[in-house]
Amino acid sequence: MTDLVIASNNKGKIKEIKEMIHTIHLLSLNDIGFNEEIPEPYPTFAENAFIKANTVHHFCGKNVFADDSGICVNALNGEPGVISAHYSGERNDEKNLQKILNNLRDKTDNTAYYFAVICLIWNNETYYFEGTCTGIIIPNKRGTNGFGYDPIFIPDGYNQTFAELPLTVKNTISHRGIAVKKMIDFLKDKV
Ligand code: IMP
Repeated sequence: MTDLVIASNNKGKIKEIKEMIHTIHLLSLNDIGFNEEIPEPYPTFAENAFIKANTVHHFCGKNVFADDSGICVNALNGEPGVISAHYSGERNDEKNLQKILNNLRDKTDNTAYYFAVICLIWNNETYYFEGTCTGIIIPNKRGTNGFGYDPIFIPDGYNQTFAELPLTVKNTISHRGIAVKKMIDFLKDKV
């Protein structure tokens, strides 16, 4: 089976992606002996996805992909966006989520969307795959599945939060699920 490195240490992301990819041998950063934190200083998801994939590609020389993703809240002018992982100033899901709820308290528009960009470096060529999932933010957390902002996000067309829906359902409609599906389709005749 062909090797492909996932350039991420985020357990939530890795669990979701592994659930979708079966015909490629996925390697973690741990598997390749990469232990550094990669800075993500850029204002766009695509640039941050590229720096992660490219740093790891330079380290190991293997085919690699990175996901950069986040949640964009319309009433907050798209915040937290690219800084979703540390919106509160810390990499702390609970504090980040509470910051959105606090900032939304006096707003009427509760719409938001998740966005993901995958940067794939395959045989030294770079490719991008995107996914979007629109929905609303609710004021009280519901559910224990998923990670990050999932307990306060209900995708359009559903009544349950991403933290209440089973992973298999989340993967069919989520920003990351859509982007991963596009990458799988692209790789289908290459592996
Ligand atoms: P990244 O490592 O910079 O791509 O950080 C992504 C951050 O966006 C995560 O740490 C979460 O805070 C948020 N995020 C992205 N995708 C999801 C998701 O599917 N559910 C919940 N939070 C997510």
